[in-house]
Amino acid sequence: MARLKTIYRCQECAYNAPKPLGQCPGCEAWNSMVEEVVEVRSAALSGLARMKGDASSGSVALMDAIKAPACEKRAATGLAELDRLMGGGLVGGQVVLLAGPPGIGKSTLMLQAAARLASGGSKGLYVSGEESLKQVSSRALRLGVKTDSLFLLSETDLSKVLAALDQLKPDFFVLDSMQTIYHPELASAPGSVAQVRECAAELLRWSKNRDASAFLLGHVTKDGTLAGPKVLEHMVDTVLYFDTERHDLLRVLRAQKNRFGPTDEIGLFSMGEKGLQEVGDASSFFIADREDSRQPGRALSVALEGSRPMLIEVQALVVSTRYPLPRRMATGLDLNRVLVLLAAMEKHLRLRLEDRDVFASLAGGVRLKDPALDLACCLAVLSSAKDQALPADWVMIGEVGLLGQIGRVPHLETRLKEAAKAGFKKALVASRAAREMTRGIGLDLLGAADLQQAAERLFKDIG
Ligand code: TYD
Ligand code: MG
Repeated sequence: MARLKTIYRCQECAYNAPKPLGQCPGCEAWNSMVEEVVEVRSAALSGLARMKGDASSGSVALMDAIKAPACEKRAATGLAELDRLMGGGLVGGQVVLLAGPPGIGKSTLMLQAAARLASGGSKGLYVSGEESLKQVSSRALRLGVKTDSLFLLSETDLSKVLAALDQLKPDFFVLDSMQTIYHPELASAPGSVAQVRECAAELLRWSKNRDASAFLLGHVTKDGTLAGPKVLEHMVDTVLYFDTERHDLLRVLRAQKNRFGPTDEIGLFSMGEKGLQEVGDASSFFIADREDSRQPGRALSVALEGSRPMLIEVQALVVSTRYPLPRRMATGLDLNRVLVLLAAMEKHLRLRLEDRDVFASLAGGVRLKDPALDLACCLAVLSSAKDQALPADWVMIGEVGLLGQIGRVPHLETRLKEAAKAGFKKALVASRAAREMTRGIGLDLLGAADLQQAAERLFKDIG
């Protein structure tokens, strides 16, 4: 057994000291010394001998000679939204960090996923440092999940968690949460950077050695300032962020980093009586009531979030300004992008906006950066400025360039099919896309080469 000792290392310049210091003697930074546990090497080993010893322990291999399974086996969690996010399921030895603000539903999601994994034949251990065994099992009861093959442990001491892991040898484990667990060798409080990092390193090592998957749960505050999970991001294979959209109605899971799958997917859930329910039909969440959709200032489009198309309503409000400088605000859309679009409209549609405030937003509280929303954004602004509603059964999909031209967007067919499914009849797209599109998507396609044509097409009946 290697001997361990505690040192204090500067986060800025890596200077280390045996005692905690307020100011780093190396770079003179304040409060940068963080506690760390290191192995003490035998003093008898000379520098060269140590280097030789180290070198022999690492083995160099030809890439082709390494036998990787042709198709990596993945264990599906049974929660389709979570599986899609992880590229089809868990890979053996994969370490996933699930981070989110307190109360978002991390424990609930993990309990549901763990129960499903366990009932699929994997041996699982759920370690809770926040709740007692009774609390966890009563939550499981409330969720109605089968937990007869899932093991529970209520513990905050890392050495005891590792001992339990060694004894049980599970195929996967959940650690809820990284802020409550502590390394007994460290003096700093649970949740501090040093504690979170050292505990994660130990758990990671265990998981990689045994090829067992791990879910580490971490809290972040609303602005993501808590240091713990940020340190963890570099260490784990996959980082999932759980957050709310649309004022708590919807919980969105996003993959921020993923060594074994895509990062542009999102998973949608809603929290109900029986825990988290998967939301398959995202579109209905993001459109304000379709009934009164004939109001000036709204335009519908189909955005792509990962590979998932969703109907989005862009709303705009154009009013006379009372300020010397007109105001521009964007919610859910990128403000700089909106400013560029407004400038393009002023120039190419001769729309006068210098004495008008413009507010643009996406209904449903989502944040998107899909350029395919450009056209809908422009037309929503135009509709509000003219005080004329756009036809309710149209979707508008296209990127708008600086010269006012409408460009094609990726995955147009997927988007159009989604719109057809939701009952839309017509789509306004780039004229080249309209020409190239094959028939049979269930929508009438109208092409427009630039903003001028798009405005003419949509407003021709209404003047
Ligand atoms: P929880 O999973 O404990 O959040 P976290 O682990 O991220 O802190 O979920 C907490 C919230 O979810 C809590 O406010 C209660 C709510 N909830 C429900 O609405 N329905 C349920 O079935 C469960 C289990 C929780
Ligand atoms: Mg919790």
